[in-house]
Amino acid sequence: MSFTRADYEKAAAVIRNRTDLPVKVGLVLGSGLNVLADVLEERVEIPYKDIPGFPQSTVEGHAGELVLGRLEGMPVITQKGRAHLYEGYSAQQITFPIRVMQMLGVNTLILTNAAGGLNTNFRVGDVMLIVDHINFVGMGGNNPLMGPNDPSLGVRFVGLAQTYDRHLRAQAVKVAAENNINLQQGVYVCLSGPQFESPAEIRMLRTIGGDAVGMSTVHEVLVGRHAGMRVLAFSGITNECIDQIDTELETNHEEVLDASRILVPKLETILRGVLRSLQ
Ligand code: HPA
Repeated sequence: MSFTRADYEKAAAVIRNRTDLPVKVGLVLGSGLNVLADVLEERVEIPYKDIPGFPQSTVEGHAGELVLGRLEGMPVITQKGRAHLYEGYSAQQITFPIRVMQMLGVNTLILTNAAGGLNTNFRVGDVMLIVDHINFVGMGGNNPLMGPNDPSLGVRFVGLAQTYDRHLRAQAVKVAAENNINLQQGVYVCLSGPQFESPAEIRMLRTIGGDAVGMSTVHEVLVGRHAGMRVLAFSGITNECIDQIDTELETNHEEVLDASRILVPKLETILRGVLRSLQ
C-alpha cells in the first residue's frame, strides 16, 4: 500500500487540532533515548494510535507518541519511539511521521539512534556524528522513495552528496567541544536487522568504510532530504561489534538500552546547543 499526500495531510490535521505550535524542527529519538522528549517544555503528547497512518513501535525501549513542545525556546516535534522495518512495517510506513512533519512545516530534521561501534577507536557511550551513510537496505530495493513520485513532496531523483548538513554538523562539533564531549564522526551503515551482525559481516562493514552499524535512521534521512529538510544525525554507540567467532561475547538488546543511559546527557547537551544556534 502506498500513502499519498492526502494521508499525510489527514494526520497533520489531527496534530494541528491539538496544538498550533509552529514547529520547524523535527526530532527522532532512537532506542533508549526516548527520555530526551521529557525535557521539552509546554509539552503536548499525542499517542501514535490517535494519529491515522502512524505505525506503532513494538520494541522495548521505544515509546509510541509524538511530543510537541519547546526546547531552548525552539518549537520542536519529537517522535518518541520509531518503528523499524524488522517489525514488519514497510519503508513508507516507518517514514510516515517524517512526511507528517513535512506537512506541518518542519525544515530541520535531527535524528538519533543506537548503534554498534565498527570503528575500533570508538567506545561504548561515545556519540558519533553521522557524516555519511551506506544503505544496504535501500541498495537492496527496500526504500521509502520507491513507487510513484509526488512532485509536490519532492523530486524523483534525490542527490545525497549533501545529506548531513555541513552547517549543522559544524555547530554540533562546536557545541561538543565547548562542553568537553568527545564527539566521534563517521559513516553509519544501515541494515535491516533484527538479527545483529555476524562476525564476518562486521569485518566486511569495516572494510567498506563503516564506523557504526544500526537498523534505522537512513530511511527517515532519505524522506527528509526528499522533503528538502536539513538533516543532522547522531549514533549513540551502545556496544562494540563482535568480529570473531567462538568468543564468549554476544550482542544483546539489554546492553544497548544500558548504554543509552550514558548517552542521553551527552545528546541532550549537543541538541540544546544546536537548537540555540538555530534561533
Ligand atoms: N548492530 C546493529 N544495530 C544495533 C547495534 C549493533 O551492534 N547496536 C545497536 N543497534
